[in-house]
Amino acid sequence: MSHDLSAKYWDDRYLNDDFGWDLGQISPPLKDYFDQITDKNLVILIPGAGNAYEAEYLVNKGFTNVYVCDFAEQPLKNLLQRCPKIGADHLLLSDFFEIRDLKFDLIIEQTFFCAINKTLRKNYFKKVHELLNPKGKLVGLLFNDVLNKDKPPFGGSKDEYVDYFKTLFDPLVYETAHNSVKPRSGRELFIILKKI
Ligand SMILES: C[S@@+](CC[C@H](N)C(=O)[O-])C[C@H]1O[C@@H](n2cnc3c(N)ncnc32)[C@H](O)[C@@H]1O
Repeated sequence: MSHDLSAKYWDDRYLNDDFGWDLGQISPPLKDYFDQITDKNLVILIPGAGNAYEAEYLVNKGFTNVYVCDFAEQPLKNLLQRCPKIGADHLLLSDFFEIRDLKFDLIIEQTFFCAINKTLRKNYFKKVHELLNPKGKLVGLLFNDVLNKDKPPFGGSKDEYVDYFKTLFDPLVYETAHNSVKPRSGRELFIILKKI
């Protein structure tokens, strides 16, 4: 059975305080990754960003080119209120798959991939590849767990994902994250995939 995964579905969940996926803080593996980046001018995109604590963290650390994309309006409003410094023009209220005319050095994955229809998984990697500059990277977390079949979060496995990206990216890091938040411990992969 197909599930309603429209912008309205997601926006309603934010408006109804029904967002159990939201950590309320930056995801620790991403914080560690961001903390070792020296080039604060990298052009960074966080798609399916939701309340985007990762973006807020980056902007407050002095990163100058942080973009977020979400097709639900409420979390983008929340982010702008908490972190006006990001700049309203860096909030892309759009379907991720429709982003055009922008290129990024780094794209960040944090519970977006598990929220899209499973039929779009290959397209996700193709779209990330298209949006990255040469040598650009996809960095973040992917569940390595069964999870739900009929509604998000949709599960998946390490082997399954390799099939989608093996012709597009070199996996520089592709292993179980060692510093996940407790409920996700041992259940998510930390990935650094470099564009081929
Ligand atoms: C499970 S939430 C995760 C939000 C955030 N990354 C986090 O970890 O809290 C998935 C998010 O992806 C957004 N989303 C789903 N499909 C999308 C699409 N095709 N384009 C843009 N945003 C999308 C939803 O609106 C929602 O905010």
